Amino acid sequence: MSGNGEPELYYADYLQLKRLLGAQLPESRRRGAEAHDEMLFIIVHQVYELWFRQILHELDAVLQIFGGEHLDERSLGGICAKLERITVIQHLLVEQIDVLETMAPQDFLEFRDLLVPASGFQSVQFRAIEAKLGLRGQERPGGSGYRRFQPEDARYLKSLQQQPSLFDRVDAWLARIPFLQDEHYDFWACYRDTIQEIFDSDRRVIEQHPQLTPDERRQQLEQLQRSRRQFDCLFDPDDFEQQRAAGHVRLSRLAFQAALFIHLYRDEPLLQQPFRLLKLLVEIDEQLTAWRYRHALMVQRMLGSRIGTGGSSGHEYLRKSAERTQIFTDLFNLASYLLPRSRLEPLPPALARKLDFHFSTLSRG
Ligand code: HEM
Repeated sequence: MSGNGEPELYYADYLQLKRLLGAQLPESRRRGAEAHDEMLFIIVHQVYELWFRQILHELDAVLQIFGGEHLDERSLGGICAKLERITVIQHLLVEQIDVLETMAPQDFLEFRDLLVPASGFQSVQFRAIEAKLGLRGQERPGGSGYRRFQPEDARYLKSLQQQPSLFDRVDAWLARIPFLQDEHYDFWACYRDTIQEIFDSDRRVIEQHPQLTPDERRQQLEQLQRSRRQFDCLFDPDDFEQQRAAGHVRLSRLAFQAALFIHLYRDEPLLQQPFRLLKLLVEIDEQLTAWRYRHALMVQRMLGSRIGTGGSSGHEYLRKSAERTQIFTDLFNLASYLLPRSRLEPLPPALARKLDFHFSTLSRG
């Protein structure tokens, strides 16, 4: 007993080790001929599920803060700390594939057929992470595919699609950020002027370049014209909505503008934390894609062109899934709208002063 009458806490009880370490039950052992590597296969999957659990714990906390009344700098710091933790775990998740790859494809064959039709495809936590980040079911090749889940799991995953995701929260938060326009300053008008000047100067360079053949000159001018049209759509709300409806862009126009502003003026004290947040979202998305590619390659190595235990085309399906499941694509694409620092309009002094001070954005719920 401890001093306060409570039973003394014991390491194995606190960590529930009896349950945890009693939960590796190779299917091959149950069927009478244990395959040595199945233990590794189970443990690696279980470790993944534990880390998924931690990621969900962080994501839920982040979503809760975003759903609150105010989002001030202090909450932004808390959000960034949690997102950063997720990225560090994700690095581990990618590296962990190395451990599984110590299993030879032939040794995997010893127990693989016993697993049909179970598959990582049915990982509810993995799907929950995707949904909470903002992946919509239809991006996945073959649709959301909940039919492979037990009814209760399918219901839970469908219900997640109805709740605001991190993407939705970030979109709403960005759209609320002040400073883009007031009686003294219109960021968008300044930006457009600078971009037009850059396009005009690029056009002159192409027209006067001594080493371009007439064909190359024509091609380059056409390319420049295409980029110019892409920029124009940023300045025209109707055009932008059309791009959104066609699925070329997902953020709202206000959110897109704010994200661009944050990137361009990220050195201003009050924009440093928002910039960090946007960068972490890109990092999370990138790590998720890195994991998908790494997993797809491992699957090719293990299965060649065989189908998966879950019934998909295996490696082929996974490669397609990696290509189509980016969530924060707009934040990646912001790079095409950036300006060199030398061409950046200095902010009006009144705005620069404001960005030195504390601000908070009011949530719409
Ligand atoms: C020998 C090791 C592995 C093989 C051969 C393998 C194979 C596959 C295959 C073929 C699929 C496509 C669905 C299907 O037809 O089954 C799949 C999906 C998936 N696997 Fe694995 N897997 C392995 C290890 C892992 C591990 C360690 C995890 C960690 C949890 C995992 C998580 C997933 C997830 C989340 C999906 C769904 C991906 C998506 O739909 O984009 N797999 N796996």
